[in-house]
Amino acid sequence: MSGPRIHLVTGAGSGIGSAVARRLRDRGDEVWLLARDAGRARELVEHHPGARTLVGDLAEPARLSWALGHQSPPDRLDSLLHIAGTVELGPVGDLTPKVWQETLAVNLMGPAELTRLLLPQLRLSRGHVVFVNSTSGLSVSPEWSAYGASKFGLRALADALRAEEHPAGVRVTSLYPSRTATPMQQKVHQQEGKPYDPARWIAPDSVATTVLTALDLPRDAELTDLTIRPGT
Ligand SMILES: NC(=O)c1ccc[n+]([C@@H]2O[C@H](COP(=O)([O-])OP(=O)(O)OC[C@H]3O[C@@H](n4cnc5c(N)ncnc54)[C@H](OP(=O)(O)O)[C@@H]3O)[C@@H](O)[C@H]2O)c1
Repeated sequence: MSGPRIHLVTGAGSGIGSAVARRLRDRGDEVWLLARDAGRARELVEHHPGARTLVGDLAEPARLSWALGHQSPPDRLDSLLHIAGTVELGPVGDLTPKVWQETLAVNLMGPAELTRLLLPQLRLSRGHVVFVNSTSGLSVSPEWSAYGASKFGLRALADALRAEEHPAGVRVTSLYPSRTATPMQQKVHQQEGKPYDPARWIAPDSVATTVLTALDLPRDAELTDLTIRPGT
C-alpha cells in the first residue's frame, strides 16, 4: 500500500509507549494513540504533536466496542502496538478482586478486545500486532501473581492470534523486557521498598528499538518472541 505507515500505540503517555510513539513520529509514520479519556487525549497530542487519538479505557474492555464505534479509527493499520500496562504487587493473600480485575482488564482483556475490533484494518494492510509482554510473562516471582497471570495470558493471546491470522498475513510479536527505567518501574521499587536507580535498568528507548526492529523486518521473517535483559 502507498502512503505513510499507520500505527496505533497504547500507553504512549509514559515510558516505553512514549518512546515508541516518538520514534515512529520522528521517521514520518502516521501515529494514532489510545488515551483512556478525552483529557488525557489532549495531553497526549501536546506531548506528541501531529499524532491523532482514539479514546478508550483498557480497564473497561466491554465498553471499547461502543467507544470506538463512536469515533473514526483509521481505515487501515500497519501495526497495533500494545504497550499500555499496569502493575500492583502483593502476596496472593492480600490481592483483592479489584486488583485482579483491573490488572487482567488493562493487561489482557483490553488488548484482546482492541485487537478484535481492529483486525479488519490489520488484515487489510497485512499488518503487525506487537505485545509488550514482560519477563514476568515467562516466569513469575512471589508477589507478582496478578501481573504475571496477566502477562502469561498475554502470551497465550499472542500465540493463538499468530496461528489464526498467519493465513491473512498478519504478523504477531511478543517482547519480554526485564526491568525498564519508567514510571512503572519507579512504582515497583516503591512497592518493593527499594531505592530506585534508573541507570541500573534498560532505557525505554532500547525497548523501543526492539519494537521497531520487529516492525521493520522484511516480510520473509517474523520475530515471534524476544527477551530483553539489562546489559552490562
Ligand atoms: N517498566 C518495566 O520495568 C517493564 C518491564 C517489562 C514489561 N513492561 C511492560 O511495558 C509496558 C509499558 O510499561 P511502562 O513501564 O512504560 O509503564 P508506564 O510508564 O507506567 O506507562 C503505562 C502506560 O499505560 C497506560 N495505561 C494504563 N492503564 C490504562 C488504561 N486503563 N487505559 C489506557 N491506557 C492505560 C498509561 O496511561 P496514562 O499515561 O494515562 O497513565 C501509560 O501511558 C507495560 O505493558 C508493562 O507491563 C514494563
